[in-house]
Amino acid sequence: MVGLVVAATCFLSITRSWWDGTHQTGCGKELPPGQFTGSVSNITIISSGSERSYLVFVPPHYSPCVAKPIIFSYHGGDRTAEDQLKLDQLTNPEFNKNAFVVYPQGINDKWQGVPNITTNDTQFTADILRDVESRYCIDSSRIWATGKSDGAGFCNILACDPILSTRFAAFAPVSGAYYVDALPCDPTTVVSPCFPGRRNIPFLAFHGGNDTTIAFAGGERKNECLPSIPHFIREWAERDGLGSHNITEPLADDAVIYSFGGGSVQLVYDSVMGHDWPSTILNADNSAAGHHPASFNASRMIIDFFESHSL
Ligand SMILES: *[C@@H]1O[C@H](CO)[C@@H](O)[C@H](O)[C@H]1NC(C)=O
Ligand SMILES: *[C@@H]1O[C@H](CO)[C@@H](O)[C@H](O)[C@H]1NC(C)=O
Ligand SMILES: *[C@@H]1O[C@H](CO)[C@@H](O)[C@H](O)[C@H]1NC(C)=O
Ligand SMILES: *[C@@H]1O[C@H](CO)[C@@H](O)[C@H](O)[C@H]1NC(C)=O
Ligand SMILES: *[C@@H]1O[C@H](CO)[C@@H](O)[C@H](O)[C@H]1NC(C)=O
Ligand SMILES: *[C@@H]1O[C@H](CO)[C@@H](O)[C@H](O)[C@H]1NC(C)=O
Repeated sequence: MVGLVVAATCFLSITRSWWDGTHQTGCGKELPPGQFTGSVSNITIISSGSERSYLVFVPPHYSPCVAKPIIFSYHGGDRTAEDQLKLDQLTNPEFNKNAFVVYPQGINDKWQGVPNITTNDTQFTADILRDVESRYCIDSSRIWATGKSDGAGFCNILACDPILSTRFAAFAPVSGAYYVDALPCDPTTVVSPCFPGRRNIPFLAFHGGNDTTIAFAGGERKNECLPSIPHFIREWAERDGLGSHNITEPLADDAVIYSFGGGSVQLVYDSVMGHDWPSTILNADNSAAGHHPASFNASRMIIDFFESHSL
């Protein structure tokens, strides 16, 4: 009897995917050979004529009959997909048991948007999306993006893209490098080129006050301009039609949350944190000399933020 109910539910989801019409979905399909629930696989695809790869984590209780959300997590500059998997803890069941996680690998460990990098990672992201949606049963209303440093900067490029901003439901960049090709650089007024395809983009950013790589105050770097982080987040609030005033709430002794428009745009500011992924336990960032663990886990806040935003 239970088996019949499961079969009927799966049949319904296959029927729905059949009726999806425009593109093939993975609903009702078994996992590809060699892939298992709760584990990570390395996938190779061709994008813009080049061989590219990404890691994909299949959530522990995945069944091809139930559509699951998916998180894209972009590594920092000169780091790898594997480094990001260890850093973001999004495959740790303590933070995420429900969503797929994809870790795209940048060419030469770099992303589009970094000065002088001309790779089309927007196209790469669209190609990965098509690939995962054809293999797995993905809930297309719950596709989310996060990343660290240059990978966070690339999240912002996705959020500013006319098309991909309409595919991703929310963005959560950490210690982001949001380069703007504008000199001389005035970090408090520089305008980020940004053309999202909708006006209600949920955006949660994290940044440290002692970030000696991507300064909270912004400034010139690699012959381009980094905005001050408060200015950058206010641009998002204004773009989303939320005004520029925030509600400031304490998060910990050294950290506050600036919330705009009821919290759909937020900046988590930790005044003593370096260029890190905030975590109360040691990670590759906060264990470096002069760094220290944070008083909160960004991974928890990111998952909660994502779970509360769907398309
Ligand atoms: C995934 O496969 C690609 C292409 O073969 C390779 O370059 C990359 O190092 C692999 N990644 C991992 C984490 O094994
Ligand atoms: C990436 O490719 C898409 C279409 O395939 C194109 O519209 C876009 O302009 C390209 N972006 C860059 C930065 O080259
Ligand atoms: C980018 O390329 C230009 C022209 O080749 C060069 O002048 C500039 O120094 C490069 N910038 C960086 C950060 O490498
Ligand atoms: C939030 O508001 C407070 C009080 O007006 C202000 O001091 C702070 O700079 C604002 N933060 C941002 C990111 O705009
Ligand atoms: C700020 O970070 C640097 C390393 O990037 C470290 O040397 C310094 O001690 C830190 N300052 C504080 C006040 O934590
Ligand atoms: C942060 O996450 C770690 C696991 O990565 C956990 O041990 C710790 O209790 C969490 N801290 C808080 C304050 O929730």
